[in-house]
Amino acid sequence: MTVEIPEAPTGPFGTVFGDSFSVARWADGDWETPTLGPIEPFSFHPATHVLHYGSACFEGLKAHRGDDNVVRIFRLHRHVERMQESARVLRLPVPDADMLAAMITDVVADNLHLVPAAPGSLYLRPTLIGTEPNIGAAAAPSKTALLYILPSPVGDYFQGGIRPLKVMVETIQPRSTPAFGSVKTGANYAMALGITLDAKAELGIDQVLFAPDGDVQETGASNFLLLRDKHVLTKALDSSFLHGVTRDSILALARDMGYDVEERNFTVDEMIVWADDGEAALSGTAAVLGGVGSMIVDGEEIPFASGEVGATTLKLRQALTDVQLGRAPDNHGWTTVVS
Ligand SMILES: Cc1ncc(COP(=O)(O)O)c(C=O)c1O
Repeated sequence: MTVEIPEAPTGPFGTVFGDSFSVARWADGDWETPTLGPIEPFSFHPATHVLHYGSACFEGLKAHRGDDNVVRIFRLHRHVERMQESARVLRLPVPDADMLAAMITDVVADNLHLVPAAPGSLYLRPTLIGTEPNIGAAAAPSKTALLYILPSPVGDYFQGGIRPLKVMVETIQPRSTPAFGSVKTGANYAMALGITLDAKAELGIDQVLFAPDGDVQETGASNFLLLRDKHVLTKALDSSFLHGVTRDSILALARDMGYDVEERNFTVDEMIVWADDGEAALSGTAAVLGGVGSMIVDGEEIPFASGEVGATTLKLRQALTDVQLGRAPDNHGWTTVVS
């Protein structure tokens, strides 16, 4: 039987959705059995907890269709763990790992016919929100919650494919509050939005790189790495930024390839010196590994080396997509096959 493989949507990332989603409700301290059905709107009381007190967290991961036509979810279990960590910090009910993994896998299986070929993929958005109708619960956790997995077939996140990106380095404002940076919650994105929109409008940049007090952290939607042949440098894990699954995967692959991988804090000044002949890249589920061509620091544009996407960036990006697409052996057990 020949399987018809759908084209990746050409519109903006995240605006096309699958056919079905999985939903589980939490009440009286327990999860109901998840249900899989057509994607449809929810109806909420105007007093719903999440609408007032931001009791929400989410995840973002992808299922890829390989050259062999096999569909693989990338790093399912690490994303499940990160969602559990976010839920814990936000005092939302922590979804059972097996239940959450099964909900995601079921959604991929039910939307398998919508998974485009690379570079497209099926983006998955697990979302957890507090649903108790109670505007008096500012200092209390929601007594009810809703968990759902929304699928979205996607093409490239950065329109224009692989091209050098431009970032503005923000040295005063942080992306989020220091203790919440590693939590995947909407408030962090709300905090970064204004700065990012203003910088896009004024400077035509792709992303803002947050480096409060000179400490280089991450952009509004991806982690940040400095690279040069056989060497990767990125900030050490702490609570100030999101612990990206792509970051972790790139570092593991770089170590496999014999690179010197340094996880330590570094400053904007050090980054400027690095830019003389070194590369920079943004890593994320949506961005994959995108080369940074230049950065704007205090109004001055500084290129990274030649200003093009660097060779080390391309090599590591290739190593990552080779595993995601089943072209290279999955030595770390990162992929979950769905059929
Ligand atoms: C703020 C932020 N940092 C980093 C990342 C990269 O994380 P991951 O590689 O797990 O997608 C994301 C993407 O979701 C993000 O929103």
